[in-house]
Amino acid sequence: MSRSLVIISLLLIASFTTTQAQQQQQQQQQPPPQCAQNASPQQGNCICNPGYWGTNANKGGSCTQCASNTWSAPGQTNTGPQVTAISACQACALGYYVTGAGTNQASPTCQACGNNSSPAQPSAGTTVQKISSCNSCMPGFFMNQVANTTGGSEAPAQCTTCGASSGATPSSAPQQVGDISSCNACQPGYFMTAAANTTNKTAATCSSCPTSSSSQQQANVGDVSVCKCFDPFALLLGANQKTCACKSSSETPISAPGGAAGCSAPSFGKIIQISFGIIISLILYF
Ligand SMILES: *[C@@H]1O[C@H](CO)[C@@H](O)[C@H](O)[C@H]1NC(C)=O
Ligand SMILES: *[C@@H]1O[C@H](CO)[C@@H](O)[C@H](O)[C@H]1NC(C)=O
Ligand SMILES: *[C@@H]1O[C@H](CO)[C@@H](O)[C@H](O)[C@H]1NC(C)=O
Ligand SMILES: *[C@@H]1O[C@H](CO)[C@@H](O)[C@H](O)[C@H]1NC(C)=O
Repeated sequence: MSRSLVIISLLLIASFTTTQAQQQQQQQQQPPPQCAQNASPQQGNCICNPGYWGTNANKGGSCTQCASNTWSAPGQTNTGPQVTAISACQACALGYYVTGAGTNQASPTCQACGNNSSPAQPSAGTTVQKISSCNSCMPGFFMNQVANTTGGSEAPAQCTTCGASSGATPSSAPQQVGDISSCNACQPGYFMTAAANTTNKTAATCSSCPTSSSSQQQANVGDVSVCKCFDPFALLLGANQKTCACKSSSETPISAPGGAAGCSAPSFGKIIQISFGIIISLILYF
């Protein structure tokens, strides 16, 4: 094989891999779409958050909170050109039970459970419920008395706080009596610094995520790296990076999810430089 043929093949391979790497990076680092307030990016679209509805959740559109403690599940039923307040808000929010079923003309009627109790999930407004459907607890509360389902004596569960504003919560909606050590998880927006202890009856200890970041609910001891900055191009949080910041100190990361990135994307210059370096050394070698 001639020397020039080898060089041409190598050049082709190099440019192909460079393009592939660039495409991959672009795909991974494509910022989420810009959404309206109270909406979140979901698979490249903007969807109104749970409990909200809107005809257009993109930037320039708007998402409105469901009225009178009604609730909407996020997706096609709460966001889209055909959606209305009534069609979207056909459930009752956490902490409420259904006392009047929803119809095509009206959302359901939702009554407060009381004593920090709640159904385990927001209830579909299709069926009227008794107060004993409030057989679980609100996030951040554990159960100290079960709901009473005895006819004529129906009562909601009784729930006690895991520690006001401590961030601790049971890892799933409690349906049985427990003690404060059943508060063994940290709520979204927190990370866990000490586990709950069933012997000395302590709740998990949770710390707030840094400004402009959040976390999912989690049940394991961790550190600040559990929290993710809203800005897709912000530096990753960890032992050496405890606040959300951009690589360039002249930039400011976004403070809410879904907006345009405040930090600039890493450049592809490096990859191209390296590829050129390899090509040139190969040319010189042959
Ligand atoms: C809430 O708790 C208080 C005190 O335990 C009790 O008197 C009241 O009946 C409870 N309310 C409901 C709706 O269960
Ligand atoms: C429900 O209420 C009835 C009547 O007050 C009482 O006898 C029963 O023990 C209660 N059950 C529960 C699970 O609290
Ligand atoms: C729970 O607390 C007890 C008493 O302070 C302690 O002896 C035990 O090691 C703790 N357990 C865990 C899993 O930390
Ligand atoms: C209870 O257990 C937790 C977790 O192990 C520990 O941090 C705390 O110091 C213990 N408290 C007491 C009073 O022993």
